[in-house]
Amino acid sequence: MLALLIPFPAFAFHEGGVANCKGCHTIHNSENGNLVDPDNRNGDPAYLRVGTASDLCLSCHATTLGSELSASPLSPAPNKGGGDFVFLKANNLNDASTGILNPIPGSAAGHNLNAPGHGLAPDGTLNRAPGGNYSSYMMSCTSCHNPHGNSNFRMLYGVGHVSQGNFTFLAPAPVASGLSVTDGSAESNNLHTAYRSGMSAWCGNCHGNYHDNGGANNTVFSHKSGVVLGGDIATIYARYNGTDFPTSGSFATAYLAQVPFEDALATVTGTQGPTATSKVMCLSCHRAHASSAPHAGRWDFNVSFLNQDGMVSGSYPIPNPYPGPNQRRLCEKCHGLGG
Ligand code: HEC
Ligand code: HEC
Ligand code: HEC
Ligand code: HEC
Ligand code: HEC
Ligand code: HEC
Repeated sequence: MLALLIPFPAFAFHEGGVANCKGCHTIHNSENGNLVDPDNRNGDPAYLRVGTASDLCLSCHATTLGSELSASPLSPAPNKGGGDFVFLKANNLNDASTGILNPIPGSAAGHNLNAPGHGLAPDGTLNRAPGGNYSSYMMSCTSCHNPHGNSNFRMLYGVGHVSQGNFTFLAPAPVASGLSVTDGSAESNNLHTAYRSGMSAWCGNCHGNYHDNGGANNTVFSHKSGVVLGGDIATIYARYNGTDFPTSGSFATAYLAQVPFEDALATVTGTQGPTATSKVMCLSCHRAHASSAPHAGRWDFNVSFLNQDGMVSGSYPIPNPYPGPNQRRLCEKCHGLGG
């Protein structure tokens, strides 16, 4: 076929036109457009090439093209930013001192998906998105990503009907750019998603402004998202270089991929700290997919010292960006010692 001789642009596969339909659909159904049941709940085995929508995505994206579901929760592949769904398979994530007696199951590691072919299932604990109404039963890779491609960051859905019309997003897709999923690159302090704007409102499509609801959603933790840091916090972030060196850092090299912020001028290779108008956002503290900590934390919210991560639970320890036994939780990056 002539089309196959033309060099593919970026997103060639997802936006590749009719020739690529059969990468995901059986030919008959992709031609007649009779595709209404993405997770195959009515038992029609015909129209997606592989089981559920999420199983389909994982047939290419599990251990390649981003490694979104590594082989083992104890040895995840290098991360591109979104985080690895394999931690949903962890036995226990609780590294608090009482963690053996009070195990937190892997299903709390992040967003659960209906992908029985890959050992994943909808969340049995949370029925809906905390702070909102989106049903856990509908959660799929295609709750967030448009399988047919679009011009948004990571093909995320923007304003409009999603999930076969069962839900409506009111906030647009976030503005950002990220690492290539087709090479061996991995997140580091000088190669990372450049978050520019809109992430908190986008997560809010399903979660509302989760921690900023006067405690109505969450009596334990109250925190704003999508607000500017201000000069004082921006300065703390720039100078902070770990618990042992809280003021020895410099603006030019302050960026910590594990505690990102939004900035209109952010770049994928940028190493600078924030300015007063940079913003704290949901992904300053969470991963979008999942992590080896409860609540998809970018670090484990239950430990006092980062080197305690994994000690009690036996789960994969999230690498400590500031090696040293004294390193405390990464709230300190913005709030300073004891923060
Ligand atoms: C047959 C293999 C295949 C399947 C199935 C597949 N993808 Fe992809 N995907 C790719 C390839 C190849 C790329 C690399 C860029 C390109 O060519 O589009 C990619 C890129 C992506 C990207 C990154 C785009 C960017 O911004 O760099 C996302 C997100 C993505 N896919 C999501 C999905 C989702 C969600 C599904 C399930 C609906 C899915 N993919 C199913 C092959 C696949
Ligand atoms: C990366 C995998 C992938 C590719 C490639 C793909 N589709 Fe789909 N398509 C899906 C999934 C998954 C759904 C189920 C809807 C969902 O989960 O959001 C879907 C749904 C549909 C639907 C139902 C309406 C809708 O949008 O929900 C139609 C029609 C459709 N696809 C046609 C096509 C055609 C035509 C092509 C080729 C131009 C194509 N698809 C290529 C994955 C893919
Ligand atoms: C709750 C929404 C959501 C769901 C569900 C979701 N993603 Fe993502 N995904 C995102 C966001 C947001 C990013 C960008 C994260 C970042 O850079 O911090 C992303 C990033 C990606 C990337 C780029 C590489 C990376 O890891 O950063 C790929 C590929 C991808 N997702 C595929 C998938 C696949 C496959 C599934 C299902 C197995 C899935 N996503 C489910 C929101 C989601
Ligand atoms: C399409 C709707 C949707 C979007 C968009 C979405 N979520 Fe969720 N989220 C859910 C649902 C449903 C649950 C509960 C089911 C589950 O945990 O698997 C959930 C659960 C969570 C949890 C709790 C996990 C646990 O088990 O403790 C966190 C944390 C979270 N989301 C953060 C985010 C962040 C951050 C974003 C934006 C990057 C986001 N979500 C975007 C639907 C969504
Ligand atoms: C400053 C860090 C921080 C920011 C920013 C943040 N979170 Fe959280 N999030 C946390 C912590 C800490 C917890 C655990 C709280 C607890 O145990 O009560 C949590 C828990 C959650 C949960 C789990 C609730 C449950 O019942 O399991 C969800 C959902 C969630 N956050 C969503 C969001 C969304 C959506 C945003 C952006 C609008 C966001 N978070 C921004 C730190 C943060
Ligand atoms: C990316 C920077 C950033 C990170 C990381 C961060 N914060 Fe904040 N925090 C802020 C900003 C900005 C404010 C001020 C928000 C406002 O009121 O405008 C704030 C305010 C607060 C407040 C004041 C009370 C309130 O509701 O406004 C507390 C308490 C707090 N943060 C605790 C934490 C904890 C605990 C963590 C770690 C789980 C954390 N923060 C992580 C930026 C951050």
